[in-house]
Amino acid sequence: MKKIILLAVIMMIVPNLTRAANAPVAPNGIALISGYRSWEAIAPSYRADKNHIRIIFGNAITIKAMKEKIRPFPDGSVMAKVAWNKTTHPKFSVATVPGTFSQVEFMVKDSIKYRETGGWGFARFVGNELKPYGKSASFVQECFGCHQPVKGNDYVFTSFATVP
Ligand code: HEC
Repeated sequence: MKKIILLAVIMMIVPNLTRAANAPVAPNGIALISGYRSWEAIAPSYRADKNHIRIIFGNAITIKAMKEKIRPFPDGSVMAKVAWNKTTHPKFSVATVPGTFSQVEFMVKDSIKYRETGGWGFARFVGNELKPYGKSASFVQECFGCHQPVKGNDYVFTSFATVP
């Protein structure tokens, strides 16, 4: 009995370790995961139409699946894409570097909970206030809709940037 109570307490605490008590929450219930900066970077990217410099990070489950080319990604996989507005380095004008923070987005794999959107839960937090994006939970249709070209890769665009 004691073991069961202990297990229940651990199960309640562990998911909360990764989110701050006052973390903003998207309309579909996904809270900002603040620990993503310590995850492994998968690749940078640049969106010419948005003037964004981005880094896509993956948690340990994602990185393992990427390395082993496992598709679909297992439940518990989480990817974060953080975007900055591009700027030029003040001391070296031909260097394009991250300027102000634009937004951070997440894709959270839970094949049962998010069955209707390919098993992925989507969330976006905008600006320095980290304002949750979307008026209602249906905002995810916009995300899921645009990720359709990579349906064959479990709706994920990014792959490891190659190094020798
Ligand atoms: C107009 C198309 C479009 C929309 C809408 C869109 N995405 Fe993406 N997304 C992309 C593309 C293209 C990439 C590849 C990397 C990049 O663009 O920087 C990407 C990459 C991602 C990644 C990194 C994993 C991957 O697939 O490479 C996450 C996380 C992500 N998007 C979340 C979201 C969320 C959350 C939303 C909705 C709030 C959303 N996306 C809406 C096009 C889109």
